[in-house]
Amino acid sequence: MNMHLTKSQIGLDGVPAAETVLSHVEGERGELIIAGEHVADLAGKSSFESVTARLWNGATGRPLSEANVRASLGGARQRAFDRLAALLPATRGLSIVDGFRAAIAGLRGESGIDHEATVVGAFPVIAGALVQQAKGHDPVAPDPNISHAADTLKMLRGRKADAREIAALDAYLVTVCDHGMNASTFTTRVVASTQADLFAAVTAGYCALTGPLHGGAPEPVLEMLDAIGTRERIKPWVYDALARGERLMGFGHRIYRVRDPRADVLKAAIERLAADGADLPFASEVEAYIRQALRRKNPDRPLETNVEFFTAILLDALAIPRQAFTPIFAVARAVGWTAHAREQQRTGRLIRPSSSYVGPIPGVARG
Ligand code: ACO
Repeated sequence: MNMHLTKSQIGLDGVPAAETVLSHVEGERGELIIAGEHVADLAGKSSFESVTARLWNGATGRPLSEANVRASLGGARQRAFDRLAALLPATRGLSIVDGFRAAIAGLRGESGIDHEATVVGAFPVIAGALVQQAKGHDPVAPDPNISHAADTLKMLRGRKADAREIAALDAYLVTVCDHGMNASTFTTRVVASTQADLFAAVTAGYCALTGPLHGGAPEPVLEMLDAIGTRERIKPWVYDALARGERLMGFGHRIYRVRDPRADVLKAAIERLAADGADLPFASEVEAYIRQALRRKNPDRPLETNVEFFTAILLDALAIPRQAFTPIFAVARAVGWTAHAREQQRTGRLIRPSSSYVGPIPGVARG
């Protein structure tokens, strides 16, 4: 009682809040293990459906194959599309990020489909419908027979994607599908621990994701690149932003003390995509200068490129509107949230930490 906490204690830095078999972030070495494999060995090599099968397997103990997941997600996308008329009215007048929150809050169980699949299948259908709605267009119907990445792109853009584009989005979905005890996953686990249902838990997780310190960063990354505009303006722009005390989006991380391994995986995916729309040399120059400037500003606190910097460039190169970047992050992370919620529910333990009271005590004079 009456004990002020340090900044690290307030942020729960380094406090293990769950036992998990799902993923592990090794911050000092810059490693990320998802479902027992390094992220670089999964992205571009294993499909989103196969990694999803492994995570759901790990969380529930029920054997699932890539083919099972592919079929159940296809069916779930179709069912979500059939329910759009009921989900979309709540989104009118809202931005895509906020409309997504309102629509996913309306999800409920579908008979014959696991709740996990209902959630993960519905997310790209809702994201696609909101992007089309913002253009004044009708939603594009899903195709249950193509991959989740291919269908996501089709519903977002209204046309079939080519193989390189599908591979790039698939690599992105795998790269960001789970990431230890990040803020949105922790939120999801807290809600799941109360025995609230999976839909409540993932809606809460999405709300936590939307903040710029977490999954809301990629849109501002593009705004930063736009604002810098030319090579000559990199130095003065970064200098002014840091002098104003601003945080540069796409840099820094609570856990990583070296480069976020996901940044390199996504950079490689952009190179494979060889997108005409992505000015990777310019972005790389901005990145290199910002890393240098952050080293000068905070010599004792390594601040390196995080996943959001290259997320912004990759999703932009795929012609996904920047207003939809956070929902697209959720399309991937929904797998991690659902797996963590199930893993938490299996423990049967309510998450209920304590607080340090620093307010007045009745009958005790303030010192
Ligand atoms: N730009 C400038 N300065 C920064 C940045 C940044 N991106 N990140 C941290 N710093 C500074 C802080 O202001 C702080 O300075 P101070 O000691 O003078 O106050 C110092 O570095 C140390 O910061 P920490 O408290 O150690 O940072 P924290 O662990 O809270 O931050 C975070 C992690 C929130 C990601 C932060 O680096 C940040 O705000 N980055 C920009 C937003 C961003 O990229 N978000 C996406 C994160 S990845 C993801 O969630 C998927």
